[in-house]
Amino acid sequence: MKFFADTAEIDDIKELAATGLLDGVTTNPSLIAKSGRDFMEVTREICGLTDGPVSAEVVALDHATMMKEAEVLRKIADNVCIKVPLTIDGLKTCKALTEDGTMVNVTLCFSANQALLAAKAGATFISPFVGRHDDNGFDGMELISDIRLIYDNYGFDTEILVASVRHVTHVLESAKIGADVMTAPPKVIKSLFNHILTDKGIEGFLADWEKTGQSITG
Ligand code: G3P
Repeated sequence: MKFFADTAEIDDIKELAATGLLDGVTTNPSLIAKSGRDFMEVTREICGLTDGPVSAEVVALDHATMMKEAEVLRKIADNVCIKVPLTIDGLKTCKALTEDGTMVNVTLCFSANQALLAAKAGATFISPFVGRHDDNGFDGMELISDIRLIYDNYGFDTEILVASVRHVTHVLESAKIGADVMTAPPKVIKSLFNHILTDKGIEGFLADWEKTGQSITG
């Protein structure tokens, strides 16, 4: 499963990229606003920190303006992935852009039927929002399972990009279902490394090593 960072914070992206485990980045208008940075400038900077796709979202609601915005965004770098909302105009834009060889991430997906439409529109990625789904009394993971089943039934290439990930269990369940990608806040990605027994194990080994009085490097 690929790991994308769901953030526009440069320091966090650099730190994750240094682990060698970062496969891409997703942003949205809220994350750009939170960063306080200029959209074009920060997106260009992020594109330079990873070879993987960097999702940059259009803000227009109509197809013609979405296309104009996408035109500007895709010039930023080769690894820009245009993010469009799951609306009729969004999917028209998705179809036009993917036919032209541009990567497209269809966002704000809350039903398996919506995911089916996105795949038919040629989406590179579909972003079902599991956290927001859970928040509203639905089962985010059931949504991922349903989309996996449908995509496998018909052999769609669209990658399932689990979004709105709030905790490590979302990541684990997504991997068990066979989602292609998950995007999570840096805090969640970093917490994947943690286990109390790992910490306790290191503590014990180091205490015993100390007793030997040895040094590996001399
Ligand atoms: O980038 C889309 C998605 O991951 C947003 O997550 O936490 O705002 O629901 P959240």
